[in-house]
Amino acid sequence: MNLKPVLTLSLLIGCATAFGATPPDDIQALSSRGRALYAERCAACHDHPQGRIPPRILISTVRAPEDIVAALASGVMRQQATGLGEQEIRALAVFLTGRLPLADQRDPNANACVAKPASLIPGSADWNGWGRDPANTRFQPLPGLTAGDLPRLKLKWVFAYPGSRVYGQPVVVGGRIFVGGNSAGRVFSLDARTGCTYWSYQAEAYVRTAVVVGPAGAGPDARLAAFFGGDRAMAYAVDAATGAPLWATRVDEHPLAHVLGTPKLHDGRLYVPVSSTESSAAADPDYPCCSFRGNVVALDAATGRVLWRGAAIEGPLQSGRLKENGEHILGPAGAAMFASPTIDAKRGVLYVGTGNSYTSQRESGSDAIHAFDLVTGRRQWTRQVLATDAWVGGCEANEPRGNCPVPLGPDFGFGSSPILVERAGHPSVLLAPSKSGVLYALDPDAGGRVLWQRELIRGDLNGGILWGPAVVGDRVFVATSKYDYVSGKGAGALAAVAIDTGRLLWRTPAPVRPCTWGNERCAQAQLAAVTAMPGAVFAGSMDGRIRAYASDTGRILWEFNTGDRFDAVNGGQASGGGIDYGGQVVVDGTLFVQSGSGRQPGNALLAFSVDGR
Ligand code: HEC
Repeated sequence: MNLKPVLTLSLLIGCATAFGATPPDDIQALSSRGRALYAERCAACHDHPQGRIPPRILISTVRAPEDIVAALASGVMRQQATGLGEQEIRALAVFLTGRLPLADQRDPNANACVAKPASLIPGSADWNGWGRDPANTRFQPLPGLTAGDLPRLKLKWVFAYPGSRVYGQPVVVGGRIFVGGNSAGRVFSLDARTGCTYWSYQAEAYVRTAVVVGPAGAGPDARLAAFFGGDRAMAYAVDAATGAPLWATRVDEHPLAHVLGTPKLHDGRLYVPVSSTESSAAADPDYPCCSFRGNVVALDAATGRVLWRGAAIEGPLQSGRLKENGEHILGPAGAAMFASPTIDAKRGVLYVGTGNSYTSQRESGSDAIHAFDLVTGRRQWTRQVLATDAWVGGCEANEPRGNCPVPLGPDFGFGSSPILVERAGHPSVLLAPSKSGVLYALDPDAGGRVLWQRELIRGDLNGGILWGPAVVGDRVFVATSKYDYVSGKGAGALAAVAIDTGRLLWRTPAPVRPCTWGNERCAQAQLAAVTAMPGAVFAGSMDGRIRAYASDTGRILWEFNTGDRFDAVNGGQASGGGIDYGGQVVVDGTLFVQSGSGRQPGNALLAFSVDGR
């Protein structure tokens, strides 16, 4: 094995860019410095966009300077920014956007709650964590309103996040919202009725996951903590009532590892899925590709100590094809875990899905569902659905150049959490929706054997099914997309499928509506996760529309355009954008919708209730 690339990687950890105070700036000088840096370090890719490389014009028009700083300092471009100092990163952000990044324009605790909060007591009608329950059904049985009420939903209040894009998903526990998702790396606890701020916590880097609230440890004295994860592979626990830090753990030493999927809390352990940005870094032919391997880490919820780690790919790195620069591609690598795991307490296992492989070396852990023992981390089974899906950014098919795998795979894999369906009188089913657009039904009692599979759309690297369906009773509600990131165009639909057979029950295409921001990048694609309540299903689209559908027929019951500008309760205005990722949750008669995404910017959290009351 050639050790050189591994050494290079460990050196990179040492020169990670640090961020501190921001000195006064001359925008002209910064911009011309940024222009030179861009030509030298960025133009080769961003002036020749393909695949998921965003064109420069897109970065310049839809990104806030803070987001460019976040991408370079801790996000997908951190490898490309290796060796750049704080001022150089700022210079690039200024050149690209024409604006200075402000560390955080908003007072994070503007609109602080004045009344002393009632003590924080979780309830059975909360929405806690990503899928609301261990099985990840995304079904709210006690929403506090009926399907008949939905046509009367009106906007109640709007909260503006810092930055111009949102990830994550708001959760509501004991009457309080917990949410991160903004590029400023700030996690908020808000009052669910008024949107006033109880506390905010500044994380080390971008927090992309939803929050899960629960006891930090065993026993009656265990504190209630808010757990979440983010860039630089961090997992955090803070006091849920006050935001006071409890612990922070870096769960993976790989310099490009990060946490995107929401951790699961079960029986005193926090299970954190680990993903990476190495497939973007590998677009640079000189990047020593690849060494990251997807894994799920079990932490002691009381201390953040690592208890076990389950890796998608095992065994030593092997040398692959020789590159033009005289180095070998290393692998196997990849199989990032970027969705929240699923807990199966009855069988004592957790299920977690993986993304594509980064290299052509043979392995069986990518594009797979893995089952690990909850207590020991021992692998129970792995079901790989596609074996030859090697993909990294910036490559064209069958081009043995740089780090490009040959053959180049379609970049499928599992962005959605598996959903465990247990119904009396029916065999158990583990639903696994893939970016390929195929919905798999696996048998959790037979090593994940495929019971049936159904292609709902011809998917691609942007995700035919991306962030996840919802399950109610005998049906699963799946949002599907045909989305092109570069053009920002594409159609979407919501489908209902029978869980026993995979039969399509109904399919409602997203209606074509004008976008507030004009016809450019106006897409109907439905990438965001789906949310269900009795009689109705919520799903958003990239044109900023949030809709409620009747679960029996797929008829649209209610629709709202979140793509506008709104006065925010915490001051100034919030802008809506595409609805992506976590989308929406419904708790205590209120629907909370997050609007704005890296694909179509926005920074709004909207609360809707019957007649806006
Ligand atoms: C080797 C090719 C390559 C180079 C060089 C490169 N990029 Fe990128 N860039 C990419 C790819 C690929 C993506 C998409 C990553 C993804 O979404 O996985 C991207 C995404 C981005 C994004 C969007 C990030 C986000 O948060 O969505 C920004 C901003 C960006 N690059 C800025 C830069 C800047 C500034 C430079 C120069 C310092 C640079 N890039 C150099 C390939 C490159």
